[in-house]
Amino acid sequence: MSELAEQAALGSGADFWTTKQVGPVPAIVLTDGPHGVRKQVAASDQLGIAENVPATCFPPAAGLGQSWDPGLVERIGTALGRESQALGVHVLLGPGINIKRDPRCGRNFEYYSEDPFVSGVLGAAWVRGVQGEGVGACVKHFAANNQEYDRMRVSADVDPRTLREIYLRAFQRVVAEADPWSLMCSYNRVNGVLASQNEWLLTKVLRDEWGFQGVVVSDWGAVADRPAAVAAGLDLEMPGGGAATDDDVVVAVGNGSLDPARVARAADRVTALATRTTAAHREGAEFDADAHHLLAREAAARSIVLLQNKGDLLPLDSSKHLAVIGEFAQQPRYQGGGSSHVTPTRLDVPMEEIGARAEVTFAPGFSTDGSGDAAALREDAVQAAATAHTAVVFLGLAARQESEGADRADIEIPPEQLELLTAVVAAQPRTVVVLIHGSVLRVAPITIAPAILDAALLGQGGGAALADVLFGAVNPSGKLTETVPVRLQDVPAYGNFPGEHGHVRYGEGLQVGYRWYDARELPVTFPFGHGLSYTTFEYSDLVVDPSLQARVTITNTGTRTGREVAQFYVSVPGSSVERAPRQLVAFGSATLAPGESATVETTIDRADLAYWDVRVDCWLVESGEYVVSVGSSSRDLRGQVAVEVTGDEFRLPVTLESSLAEALSDPATATALGGLLSATFGAELTAEAAGTDLAVLLGALPVGRLVAFSGGQLTRAHLEQLLTAAREG
Ligand code: BGC
Repeated sequence: MSELAEQAALGSGADFWTTKQVGPVPAIVLTDGPHGVRKQVAASDQLGIAENVPATCFPPAAGLGQSWDPGLVERIGTALGRESQALGVHVLLGPGINIKRDPRCGRNFEYYSEDPFVSGVLGAAWVRGVQGEGVGACVKHFAANNQEYDRMRVSADVDPRTLREIYLRAFQRVVAEADPWSLMCSYNRVNGVLASQNEWLLTKVLRDEWGFQGVVVSDWGAVADRPAAVAAGLDLEMPGGGAATDDDVVVAVGNGSLDPARVARAADRVTALATRTTAAHREGAEFDADAHHLLAREAAARSIVLLQNKGDLLPLDSSKHLAVIGEFAQQPRYQGGGSSHVTPTRLDVPMEEIGARAEVTFAPGFSTDGSGDAAALREDAVQAAATAHTAVVFLGLAARQESEGADRADIEIPPEQLELLTAVVAAQPRTVVVLIHGSVLRVAPITIAPAILDAALLGQGGGAALADVLFGAVNPSGKLTETVPVRLQDVPAYGNFPGEHGHVRYGEGLQVGYRWYDARELPVTFPFGHGLSYTTFEYSDLVVDPSLQARVTITNTGTRTGREVAQFYVSVPGSSVERAPRQLVAFGSATLAPGESATVETTIDRADLAYWDVRVDCWLVESGEYVVSVGSSSRDLRGQVAVEVTGDEFRLPVTLESSLAEALSDPATATALGGLLSATFGAELTAEAAGTDLAVLLGALPVGRLVAFSGGQLTRAHLEQLLTAAREG
């Protein structure tokens, strides 16, 4: 093989999960990810859907994100790294940190949040954990992959500021904070160009601006034109099997359409990853399945959100008879469908776990596949509820309703489940709902139940975790990472999702998630960041010093030990650009005994105050007052302080296209231009006149257009000269 042919061969997989061994460069194994290791039992099949080796199924991101606990996510990363070592995996394909732009996206269960800060912080923690064990992370899917519909072709049409501030920001944070060894480009186009062939994305932004050093891997089958992808900055096309695209690379170099240096560069990066991960591989490594199961259970409990708890119905009294209703209590739904589907090492069943702690009658209540007599199922359940002390009703979506590859048409809880709940609540006012789902549902109809636990998807330990929370062994502390809207028509991308004819327009711009509901002052069923506890907390003494260190005291004012996640939001009331009414910039937590107080301290990263300025293509921090609020949710704010921030030195150069107002407000040009104006037009147009009606009117005039109004006194060359002289000084 020629050197070029070897380099090309390194850049595509040998099969579904393995890279090629080329000369001294070893082959490595990449596998899914993100909430468990999906290692196939036998040699790879061509579609990657064969049976998997059992591995711990931790809570998928939809659940785990609700923990708001980077330490926990990092511990799970460590466990995943150990399982990868034991199963011979060199790169684990995760974390998924795409933004949940719309609740209908079929793959939201694999992502953390509608907010880039939470997604970035938790994603970085996952990477640190996995890579700490010598296994590469592969952050995905880069970028703007926010729907499943037409995912392999659709162009996400996003304005540059929104792209930077919302859709790229979590990736930027993970690259900066955790140095991932690889990153997966997405299937879709970004502003018309396939992500796999997008030089702006893969090279200019990712490498030149952010300094990413790792390997860019394609999503499986994302490459349409390998030479174009290599030229753009793609290093490894997956999967593989034939040499067809390797030959394309060799031919493209031969005919001069591809720079050989780019092929060599990609090969070097793949070589570095293969060398690094095989050197870190621990032959004969094992993992402790029992300890990992306990970690999965702990994480599941921390991921549960107490949405409402009227009359302190929860926690339950284990001496009382319960009716447990709903198929999901017996046939748990604990992960989403598609490439992330893990074969668990074991599975806790909620019904068994609840049954082990209290006397229980079970009734299925409904079927998830339309089988059975709905009225009879309902009647049995109502009967069980009426005769019990409390009813616990498991509702949610079936596996086939939430999977990679398809979006949902609505956000409804199935109508037969709502009918069942209405009947149960009528017969048994002491009713608790446990809601199982991978992405947001319209929850308003189930608020007829006094208590609701949002169980999202909890992984293999979810059954025991639910029992722990229901009976109070664990006090819930999860918080929503996605807003629960009142209705689908209110969601930010409504009307712009999932697009048509190959394009999806990100028409809501920056106002994604809670930013949107807050900007429009829309009511929501449960806000971003919401989550109750069996105890209560008071906030006091919020302080934010000029170095952006923030501190708040939290006191447990209730009767049980509990953990509170304090969220810090920033508003920029005097901003010169559009801003969200408030934006999450930090969070921290404290676990407190009854009566205990503690200070939650955190640093707000100055970079998180910046906006992306499209005029100069860079981040800018404005000078002025920033209002920092602290809250128990984005709509339950408990304190606020203002802090003065000195912004970045920034001045747009005054040109003939600058408006008069801009030119007159720039000290470098104001005097010279003011003098010229008074000499040419009279005193009323000088800088001193700014604020008068005439000045406002003329202020919008580009400087160069003065020529047309000068009666022949001015030329563009004259103005140009004046500006240059003024700028130079
Ligand atoms: C998914 C990726 C996954 C890959 C390998 C693709 O369909 O989008 O997230 O890692 O398959 O299974």
